[in-house]
Amino acid sequence: MATTIEDALLSRRSCRAFLPDPVPRTELERLLTLAARSASNSNSQPWHVHVLTGAAKHGLTTALLHAHDTAGRVPTREYDYQPSPDDWPEPFHSRRRRFGEGLYKETLGIAHDDSTGRLDHHRRNYGFFGAPVGIILTVSRRPLEGALIDAGLFLQALMLAARGAGLDTCAQASFIDFYPVLREKLPIPKDHLIVCGLALGYADDDHRLNQQRTPREPVGAFTTFYDGD
Ligand SMILES: Cc1cc2nc3c(=O)[nH]c(=O)nc-3n(C[C@H](O)[C@H](O)[C@H](O)COP(=O)(O)O)c2cc1C
Repeated sequence: MATTIEDALLSRRSCRAFLPDPVPRTELERLLTLAARSASNSNSQPWHVHVLTGAAKHGLTTALLHAHDTAGRVPTREYDYQPSPDDWPEPFHSRRRRFGEGLYKETLGIAHDDSTGRLDHHRRNYGFFGAPVGIILTVSRRPLEGALIDAGLFLQALMLAARGAGLDTCAQASFIDFYPVLREKLPIPKDHLIVCGLALGYADDDHRLNQQRTPREPVGAFTTFYDGD
């Protein structure tokens, strides 16, 4: 459990295997109250969260996996969070490739050309990696660009607040590939955009999926300091 902001920042990582232990509703409400302290454009608070547990979460997962395994994947996305690899310039392309190798090859032992193995892992997204709580985050489309920034702040705050309660999370854009299923199953108004999902629960620390640690660039690689004229 993180007791300082620094601990929360340093211990947050994408958790992809969870214990089945439930998270009490009062605790979820406390974490959402904290996340809602996030800054937003003129305090517009453009976010909405759909929190699924128990049979509701199971029903959504069943529908998503059915769409995944049949012809349910639509060619469009709610928005293009993950464009095709060719659309990423350097250095982002290489960083993404390194992340993929770390997850599939080093952590899971799945070869680059093993598309069945990769798909099997990808399917786990739609069960929220076994987390007892699945969250779908949406924001108002009007106006959208600023709202997406606000949604990111809310998401990060929720992930850090979770660490303060000994909980782990994984943000999941994979849900937007099946946005028609989400819109069929959840009462998401047309003027809201589905930003991403979030798995939340207690980490299964013994699971190999939770052994991966991602590196970061040093400050000098992404910062320009100005001092004087
Ligand atoms: C908005 C967003 C969407 C993401 N979508 C997914 C996803 O669909 N599936 C997944 O396994 N990880 C997903 N991730 C996790 C990233 O891969 C992860 O944050 C990144 O590799 C850095 O690793 P770390 O979170 O462990 O520090 C997402 C992260 C963000 C911020």
